[in-house]
Amino acid sequence: MISRFSRRDFTTALITTPALLRAQQTPLKARVKVDTERVVGEIDPMLYGNFIEHLGRCIDGGIFEEGHKLSDENGFRRDVLEGTRKLNVTMLRWPGGNFSSNYHWRDGIGPRDSRPRRLEMAWGTVETNRFGTHEFLQYSEMAKSVPYICTNLGTGTWEEAQQWVEYVNSSEDTAMTRLRKQNGRRDPWNVTYWGLGNEMDGPWQMGHRSADDYGKFALEAAKLMKWTDPKIKLIAAGSSHFGTGIDWVGWNRTVLEHLKRHIEYLAIHLYVGNRDNNYYEFLTSSLDLAQRIKTTEGVIDAALSGEPASRKIHIAWDEWNVWYRARGGKERGRRILEERYNLEDALVVATFLNTFLNNAHIVKIANMAQLVNVIAPMFSNENGMFLQTIYHPLAAFANNSKGTALSLFVDSPKYESKRFGRVPFLDMSAAHDDGTLVLNAVNRHLETPIEAEFEIQDKRFSGAAAITEVNGPDIKAENDFGVTKVQPASRTMQADGNKLRVRLAPHSYTMIKVKLAKA
Ligand code: AHR
Ligand code: AHR
Repeated sequence: MISRFSRRDFTTALITTPALLRAQQTPLKARVKVDTERVVGEIDPMLYGNFIEHLGRCIDGGIFEEGHKLSDENGFRRDVLEGTRKLNVTMLRWPGGNFSSNYHWRDGIGPRDSRPRRLEMAWGTVETNRFGTHEFLQYSEMAKSVPYICTNLGTGTWEEAQQWVEYVNSSEDTAMTRLRKQNGRRDPWNVTYWGLGNEMDGPWQMGHRSADDYGKFALEAAKLMKWTDPKIKLIAAGSSHFGTGIDWVGWNRTVLEHLKRHIEYLAIHLYVGNRDNNYYEFLTSSLDLAQRIKTTEGVIDAALSGEPASRKIHIAWDEWNVWYRARGGKERGRRILEERYNLEDALVVATFLNTFLNNAHIVKIANMAQLVNVIAPMFSNENGMFLQTIYHPLAAFANNSKGTALSLFVDSPKYESKRFGRVPFLDMSAAHDDGTLVLNAVNRHLETPIEAEFEIQDKRFSGAAAITEVNGPDIKAENDFGVTKVQPASRTMQADGNKLRVRLAPHSYTMIKVKLAKA
């Protein structure tokens, strides 16, 4: 990507205060040891998933605008599709979210003009049903994303969930598959990933149940769905509800007791924000994520003790993002949840991605919520779109951090935080794939660069290291239509031997991509 900031512009922008000037002369020092044999786990490509919900302008007015000058003959916005492809969205979750709990899939098939308009209770609008199962699966195909369908276990029935799997995946000659063919699709799509409802632990959810009631209900749906297609993978609704005094661990424990022999994933959600405008506390959000992953892994391990080793359940972090501004309960209708992101949000996103990689053995699916306009990395209007700040770290990870995640030794200066005690200024992850090493580094320090020394234990660096830095003039900098303040800038440096020294600018995410050779 060509940068609008040259390196010199960045430097000029940074040397604006005496503190920064001083800081640039005395960087912090950090050491990172890398060993390609110390593997955390395989990086599942599904970690770079995203999510589209019938909500505000995500689908209608985001990816889908029939008759629009920028849309193709299907009604898909070309610019948004291109942004989706460049983001390497490996997986796409649909149709919600809270919406899924009042979605009846049969409303969304057949000739578009005959589909019923329905009152939509999750977000208080009218659902036209013009974007349904066929449109979603076609979009996924065009975006090269693996589809993930979330069934309605709120107002829906077991039979409805079962018949959805039949309609989409069966090759038998049945009323459901005849209907599919009649609607223009001869072959089954063979969708692998199916969700057993959304956020069923939340009182805001239509059809909200206790953990015990949900576990029993979801079990019957799971049986029918797997009897329809044994190859599918099921994702149960774990807890999304982390307020004080809420027994989120208990929810997961109970749900797993009911479903542990029938599901492949437990879904967890996390949204974070900077409500009190405290940058350094906000930048500890990924430690919250890490702690929740650890706790959930423990609950999964406990549920599976005594089960055969072949029975595995992984975490699907199938909604995550920064979301706290556009959140008002009164906010209903078309333009809701249109969060605008700044640089500090992009840094939090980068630390979340680091955390997913650092837990790649247990987190196998992650879906940023959501793709466009609604708490999203892309933002469109009638004339085009722009990339929000959070797009850039996500694109860098999704396009580069593949293969295996490595366990790193990181020795970094720390700061004191209220919630998590001492927090390193340097947040790291690493991916190793076929002789290429990718290091992802976030410098949380507001003013001071970090001089990071990367030492490789079992190989040597070789050739030119490609460095991509996502940064901007200040942590509150945002992008907008025609205004790009936060974006990636690239540089290279020669790499040889077993040490690589890289200067990490204040409040930046830096990706270092380098080839490895035998030691
Ligand atoms: O992504 C927005 C909403 O957040 C989803 O509909 C819901 O699952 C979550 O509460
Ligand atoms: O700089 C972010 C991403 O990294 C770009 O979108 C991609 O081309 C590169 O690999």
